[in-house]
Amino acid sequence: MWRGRDVISARDFSRKELEELFEVAKYMEKYAKSRVNFLKGKILATAFFEPSTRTRISFEVAMKKLGGDVVGFWGPEGTSVEKGETLADAVRMLDAYSDIIVVRHKYEGAAKLAAEVAESPVINGGDGGFNHPTQAMLDVYTIWREFGTVDGLRVGLVGDLRHARTINSLLEIFTNFNVEISLVSPDFLRPRTETIDYIHSRGVKYSFHTSLEEVIHTLDVLYVVRIQKERFIDPLEYERVKGSYRVTQETLKNAKKNLILMHPLPRVDEIDYRVDYTPHARYFKQAALGVPLRMALIYLIIS
Ligand code: NCD
Repeated sequence: MWRGRDVISARDFSRKELEELFEVAKYMEKYAKSRVNFLKGKILATAFFEPSTRTRISFEVAMKKLGGDVVGFWGPEGTSVEKGETLADAVRMLDAYSDIIVVRHKYEGAAKLAAEVAESPVINGGDGGFNHPTQAMLDVYTIWREFGTVDGLRVGLVGDLRHARTINSLLEIFTNFNVEISLVSPDFLRPRTETIDYIHSRGVKYSFHTSLEEVIHTLDVLYVVRIQKERFIDPLEYERVKGSYRVTQETLKNAKKNLILMHPLPRVDEIDYRVDYTPHARYFKQAALGVPLRMALIYLIIS
């Protein structure tokens, strides 16, 4: 099901495939603290044209834990991209040197373009404001590990639902499960119409809200995203919404006891630091689960 595949959009994966991925990720958790030889001799290349901390490092760590090697670059500095080399040419070179390529880019469609020119499988490590499929996989994996299931849960998504690619991919992945989604944002930061149309067509139950207080007591999972400053076309619009939807201990006072609070990170100020010490906080564990999940992904694709 997975061998040789590109991972470009979360829409491309079925429930069955995701469940297989989660089972393998759980198996990989055993090895996430050591090193195995499953992919000895294989090379993963990272082509990161946009900043990243967790995605790049967790892919690199995952490959190293599997016994493989890693090459690549982040930022155009020090590479021929600075001399004007195109994305397609840079990817062609990495393709010649490696077995699997992870691409991150500020433009939507960059990963698809890379997959078209590369023979090796290409994984989208986030391109533009629309797709970040492996983040969504690890997000749903975190929920699956926490609750033992994804079905029947009520999930709240809060913040910049329009520009956050993690939100779009997460909504797409959720269509494989029986979840009920509360979308909490200012009206103009609701998810894109095409995403809403997609989840609607797949029968997901969802509702729109502007106030988190209104829904907090109903939720099992609260997923927070930062306002994506760099993706706003109009800086005045950013000024209008920055600082809204800040989650504090006060916000959580009516939450269910076992509500888990997630965030793809980096956070700016949308979660108060004191919340880190409450039993709800799961964002650091979520980031840590990126390693076994990405081990499973790489393993399933190139072993
Ligand atoms: C996200 C991203 O880059 O889209 N970070 C991540 O990959 N964990 C989230 C963000 O930048 O807000």
